[in-house]
Amino acid sequence: MPKTTDIVRLHVNGDAHEVGVPTHYTLLETLRYVLALTGTKQGCDKGDCGACTVILDGNPTLACLMPVWEAEGRQVVTVEGLAGPEGSHPLQDEFDLNGAAQCGFCTPGILCSAAALLERTPDPSRRQIQEALSGNLCRCTGYAKIYDAVEAAADRLQSEEEEAK
Ligand code: FES
Ligand code: FES
Repeated sequence: MPKTTDIVRLHVNGDAHEVGVPTHYTLLETLRYVLALTGTKQGCDKGDCGACTVILDGNPTLACLMPVWEAEGRQVVTVEGLAGPEGSHPLQDEFDLNGAAQCGFCTPGILCSAAALLERTPDPSRRQIQEALSGNLCRCTGYAKIYDAVEAAADRLQSEEEEAK
């Protein structure tokens, strides 16, 4: 009889998990339906919309296209993992303050793409922000407020870093 489940070991938001999953499951299906991390959204399920974006070893990654076994032993961060011990991530605060989320379906993926950008490029230009978010589709906001929010979060993170020196 063909094997129908696999045991996979995942590191998600700093926690180690060992879970049984159907062999055909993607990382997205495992996050949502096995680990109950439903912040990561299932949109098109074919790589077109970016709603399922998570951060994999520091890089924005479409979880709907990744067989779950490919994430074994790698560090996965979902929108649930962006906040720190002091509270929400500056991106989350600035999306709130700038009105950058409306229906919010795209927002978790956009936050993950933006967080990965700010990790590698702390002071991005508008063009770099646009490029980093080019795979994340939003039907509601018109994008300007999203870009404003990312710029404001970058400024805030840099000020915090200066103050900490
Ligand atoms: S759900 Fe993955 S790109 Fe749309
Ligand atoms: S806020 Fe609705 S899709 Fe982006």
